[in-house]
Amino acid sequence: MSNGNSHEKVEKNVGLMAVLIAVAVSFGGLAEIVPLMFQAEAIKPLEGVKPYPALQLAGRDIYIREGCYNCHSQMVRTLRFESERYGHYSLAGESVYDRPFQWGSKRTGPDLARVGGRYSDDWHRVHLINPRDVVPESNMPSFPWLENAKVDGAEVAQRMKTLQRIGDPYTDEEINSAATDVEGRTELDAVVAYLQGLGKAAPRGG
Ligand code: HEC
Repeated sequence: MSNGNSHEKVEKNVGLMAVLIAVAVSFGGLAEIVPLMFQAEAIKPLEGVKPYPALQLAGRDIYIREGCYNCHSQMVRTLRFESERYGHYSLAGESVYDRPFQWGSKRTGPDLARVGGRYSDDWHRVHLINPRDVVPESNMPSFPWLENAKVDGAEVAQRMKTLQRIGDPYTDEEINSAATDVEGRTELDAVVAYLQGLGKAAPRGG
C-alpha cells in the first residue's frame, strides 16, 4: 500500500487538492476549446459573409435593445426536422461579425437565422407594429415606437469604427458614409433591413 500514503497526503491537504482538481478540470476544457481557436472553419467568415452595412448594424443593436433574443434564437441545429423547417443548419463562419452572437436557445417564437427574404418588407413592418394584424394567434409583443424613432447616424458610425478597431474589415469610406446611409431612416426600417439580411449568405438546401 505505498500508493495509499501519497493519496492520503493529497486528501488531507485542501490546498494541494484544490490545485490538482483545477489542473484536472482545465485539461479537459483546454483540450476542447483551444483547437477551436485555430480552426479556420470556426474563425473565418463563410463566403459572402460581410460586416453589417450601416442600416443593418443599427437594426441589430435595436434587436438586442428590445430583447428580441428572449424569444428568438438564431441557430438552426443539425437535426433533420430543424433543417426541413428553417433551411441549412447554422455554420460558425456565418456569425464571425456578430458581436455578441445571437444564437440563443430560447424559442418562444421561431428561429430567425434564415428569415431573410421569407417575407416582404411590408409584412415585417405590419408584423412589428402589431403582430396580430398578420398572425391573428400571435403572442409576440407589439413594437409600435420603432416607427417613430430615427436612427442616430453618428452613433452607427462610431460603432463601425469600434468594430473596425477590433478587426472587422470596414473601410474608412463605409464608416464616413454611414451617417448619410441611415439619414432619415426609422428604427423600424433598420430592424426590417437587419431581418431581411439574416441567413442570406447561408448554404442552400437542407
Ligand atoms: C415574448 C416573445 C417574443 C418577443 C420578445 C419577440 N417575438 Fe417575434 N415572435 C414571437 C412569436 C410567438 C412568433 C410567432 C407568431 C408570429 O409570427 O407573430 C414570432 C414571430 C416573429 C417573426 C416571424 C418569424 C417566422 O419565421 O414566421 C419575426 C420576423 C419576429 N418574430 C421578429 C421579432 C423581432 C424583430 C423582435 C424584437 C423587436 C421580436 N420578434 C420579439 C415571439 C416574440
